[in-house]
Amino acid sequence: MLLKIPQVLNKEQVAQGRAILEAAEWVDGSVTAGYQSTLAKKNIQLLEDSPAAIQVGDMILGALAQQPLFMSAALPSKIFPPLFNCYQNGHAFAEHVDNAVRHVKGTPVKIRTDLSMTLFFSEPEEYDGGELIVQDTYGEHTAKFAAGDMVLYPSTSLHRVTPVTRGQRLCSFFWLQSMVARDEQRSLLFDMDNAIQALRQNHDDEDPALIKLTGVYHNLLRQWVQT
Ligand code: NI
Repeated sequence: MLLKIPQVLNKEQVAQGRAILEAAEWVDGSVTAGYQSTLAKKNIQLLEDSPAAIQVGDMILGALAQQPLFMSAALPSKIFPPLFNCYQNGHAFAEHVDNAVRHVKGTPVKIRTDLSMTLFFSEPEEYDGGELIVQDTYGEHTAKFAAGDMVLYPSTSLHRVTPVTRGQRLCSFFWLQSMVARDEQRSLLFDMDNAIQALRQNHDDEDPALIKLTGVYHNLLRQWVQT
């Protein structure tokens, strides 16, 4: 499942974030890549412990906690502190799968990467290319969204970023460990939650069928959850 989470940040937050990011120090993107992806990856990024990354990262995490669509789709257990990259002058990232486990620098925390996120800080018309292309069993999906929007996709997916041939593509990218490790189970819960929310629009909250369905949602979650 590839999911767009619209307007995680509003335009004011995007502008504020960009001002901080543009004033920060950028380094070669190979610093967070594994061996295979070092060969595939051409971009620049912020060091993960840079004050700018921490400040804008905290703004993103605060905003995500207020997003019911994200919470329902991701069922997050641990979220990696957001990282930031910039593609320009032909930068690209060839096809790869993200590393399965990430260490949070300077802590004993390890995160199993179940879901990958990209949050856009540049508007699509500011650059050419720079599409994130994600493969799943139904084919290829392209993400190039408005500034402030985020894409969420399973970290098991092969994906790539096409060359940026004009302008600058500034994004945040990060991962999370979900309370439900398997994508198929998480997708079922998400579909069910959406259906329950839709039913709630035109049914009484005390409708016995709705109460039962909500119970089934929680009992499925209870079977699959890892905390
Ligand atoms: Ni990747």
